[in-house]
Amino acid sequence: MSSLPPVLTCHNLAVHYDNRSALRDVNLEIKRGQITALLGPNGAGKSTLLKVLAGMIPPSHGAAKFEGEELSGPHANITYVPQRSDVDWTFPISVLECTLLGLAGSRSRWKPFSRHDKAVAMQALKDVRMDHLAQAQIDALSGGQQQRVFLARALLNNGDVLLLDEPFTGVDVPTQDMLVDLLTELKSRGTAIVYATHDLAQAARTADYAVLLNGDIVAEGSPHDIFQQDVLLRTFGGSVISVESLREVAAS
Ligand SMILES: Nc1ncnc2c1ncn2[C@@H]1O[C@H](COP(=O)(O)OP(=O)(O)OP(=O)(O)O)[C@@H](O)[C@H]1O
Ligand SMILES: [Mg+2]
Repeated sequence: MSSLPPVLTCHNLAVHYDNRSALRDVNLEIKRGQITALLGPNGAGKSTLLKVLAGMIPPSHGAAKFEGEELSGPHANITYVPQRSDVDWTFPISVLECTLLGLAGSRSRWKPFSRHDKAVAMQALKDVRMDHLAQAQIDALSGGQQQRVFLARALLNNGDVLLLDEPFTGVDVPTQDMLVDLLTELKSRGTAIVYATHDLAQAARTADYAVLLNGDIVAEGSPHDIFQQDVLLRTFGGSVISVESLREVAAS
């Protein structure tokens, strides 16, 4: 897989909000069949980078490209799961309807969902063990359940790239394990997965490639190679964690 050309690339990418720089000098290659973790402190630019890769915000300088073509907006083959705090959960929609939106990118706008569409959506809900709540309103779910529904919706999209913003935050261990299983399954099918996280141990366990961000890229490589005390200090400041235990996790 690693000999394939990267599916997503960033070229001298920078993002400014008003006059403030959120990202600068980002050059990155995202590969198929690989899980890439984006790590960095609050405000490091993780969500901003994911939004650029999703085609949701244009870079101020440079470019993000999907298969060599510059992104100029959301792309049908790139699925984005936002940070939970970025979603308006009061939107009146059922779990099944929310899941069906995963099919919306690949069909004409006004065509109603068919019986087959609904069966496919129910299967995705089953995969994330949320089928029993298919008729519930999305705002009546717990945070971890909402995250599962977003995952089901992403599964329906079946794109080349899956971008997830802090998918492990605020979800219980069984949900985290289920998420890791699903990501591993998608990875084996050749999907490129990129997720943002604050959980270094989770990244050490699950990511093939880690990118340490703090406005720019501080380091990138396999978690085992780059989770070193000096690199983590440069990224996060302060004393973060026991690096040896992290590297053991990454090696296992
Ligand atoms: N819509 C916006 N308007 C203005 N500034 C923004 C906007 N979104 C993000 N920023 C700023 O850009 C910088 C990067 O923010 P971003 O949300 O990408 O960081 P993050 O790494 O995802 O942080 P967190 O870990 O808190 O989610 C921050 O300084 C933030 O204040
Ligand atoms: Mg963020």
